[in-house]
Amino acid sequence: MAARSSSGAVPHPIIRRESHRGSVDTNELNGGHLRQSENRQSDPIVNPIATPTPAPTTEPVSRAKHFPGSGSSADQVLAELEAKRSDDVRWNEGRTFGLVFDGGDEVRHVAESAAQTFLHENALNTTAFPSLGAIQSELCAWTADLLHGPEGTAGFVTSGGTESILCAVEAARERAQVERGIHEPEIVLATSAHAAFHKAARLFGLRPRVVDVTADWTPDLDAMADAVNDRTALVVASAPQYPQGVVDPVEDIAQMAASVGASCHVDACMGAFVLPFAAMEEPDMWSAPPWDLAIEGVTSISADIHKLGYAPKGVSVLLHRSKTLRRYQTFDFDGWLGGRYVTPNLQGTRSGLPMAAAWAVVRFLGTDGYRRLVRTTISAADQIRTGVRAVDGLAVPSSCRHHLLSITADPYTDHPLDPFSVGDAMAARGWHHDRQGPPDGLHLTVSAGNAPVVDRWLSDLAGAVDDVRSSAGSAPVNPVTGAYSTLE
Ligand SMILES: Cc1ncc(COP(=O)(O)O)c(C=O)c1O
Repeated sequence: MAARSSSGAVPHPIIRRESHRGSVDTNELNGGHLRQSENRQSDPIVNPIATPTPAPTTEPVSRAKHFPGSGSSADQVLAELEAKRSDDVRWNEGRTFGLVFDGGDEVRHVAESAAQTFLHENALNTTAFPSLGAIQSELCAWTADLLHGPEGTAGFVTSGGTESILCAVEAARERAQVERGIHEPEIVLATSAHAAFHKAARLFGLRPRVVDVTADWTPDLDAMADAVNDRTALVVASAPQYPQGVVDPVEDIAQMAASVGASCHVDACMGAFVLPFAAMEEPDMWSAPPWDLAIEGVTSISADIHKLGYAPKGVSVLLHRSKTLRRYQTFDFDGWLGGRYVTPNLQGTRSGLPMAAAWAVVRFLGTDGYRRLVRTTISAADQIRTGVRAVDGLAVPSSCRHHLLSITADPYTDHPLDPFSVGDAMAARGWHHDRQGPPDGLHLTVSAGNAPVVDRWLSDLAGAVDDVRSSAGSAPVNPVTGAYSTLE
């Protein structure tokens, strides 16, 4: 099991915080492995209820060790499953800021009905299931249309953002090898890019060249330009990045990639189903600088329908600028006794359920529905930003105007609050926030399901802050606030 930091946060893979400029090769620094963070701040933050690894106060969910001897009735089995859920976060009451994205009763109903219909179908072979071939093609075409894909844009559906990123990195590596003869490929990315790129680098043998972010949380472009070279297979941009919700300067980044013939992937896992609709709703306030396939140097883009697209888990779209580029993603093999085996992503057998449910949700909501949900979401996020900034001791870094935000200690006050302690106090009130850092912070991906409970959240925040300031030394009541992780 990986070690945790004293705050209970999962160790951060970036170990040289002092390196604000220039590129860092994390493979050289730490062998590409997660490592105990050396970054904990020693600022005089009010931290009265900080504990080592928070221990759950409730009994862990029971785990049977032996294979079931005899079968059980369906009622019994379903009751047992239901019982296992008793300690889960109450996402359907808007109490998670991330993890589950709830588009409301009608959206859930459509998704569940479609899922029931396609529960057993297998998308491994779309000749046997042409329905799934059509569903996949339409999801890709619709997403390409939304993200300004030029004629010829082609994609595949994957199981989620991580798989889309893995496939994009692998495709870029293949392309670099075939077109440019690169055998020691590198990937250039900022510290704000999602951890899945590091996972991909490790799995597919690319050397990460990591650059820091500047004061506005966008990649340090000078450092990025220094890091891009003849071995660069892929340069990464985020729209937006997860930690602070900032959209990177994609045009600049794509140009850098193009200058050496490298691929440029835009991670729009979080933004693809928000930014276009936000720009339609409030062009002056909510538009972002260009970030999608309208930019020529962007070669691939990932768009998660299972996040702000409001589909149930298991669906992301990975688009390539052309079929030629998409070919690098496809595994096509006939050197065994089983015949020709062609798969578009990392899976073999794959469920038809997620893509059918996603198709139904996108079709049900349409542009109008997404515009409505995006307006609700960003208004809720604005209310949260304003409320948090009014609390002495807390800050919302970045000038992001969309749905992602983090809550940190305010470095400009005499009374900064430890965000993890606030998170514990919020957890005791039934709210779930993932932790992040550096800097230490609580993460909020706001979605439409949070909107009805924002007033309640703000009043609980006031109570949580009072607790943190007044209860020095006492342990949190129900410290379930977790890191963004599965350790066991
Ligand atoms: C910007 C970004 N990219 C990629 C991912 C990974 O997506 P998934 O969790 O669906 O694998 C996330 C997840 O939060 C994300 O925020």
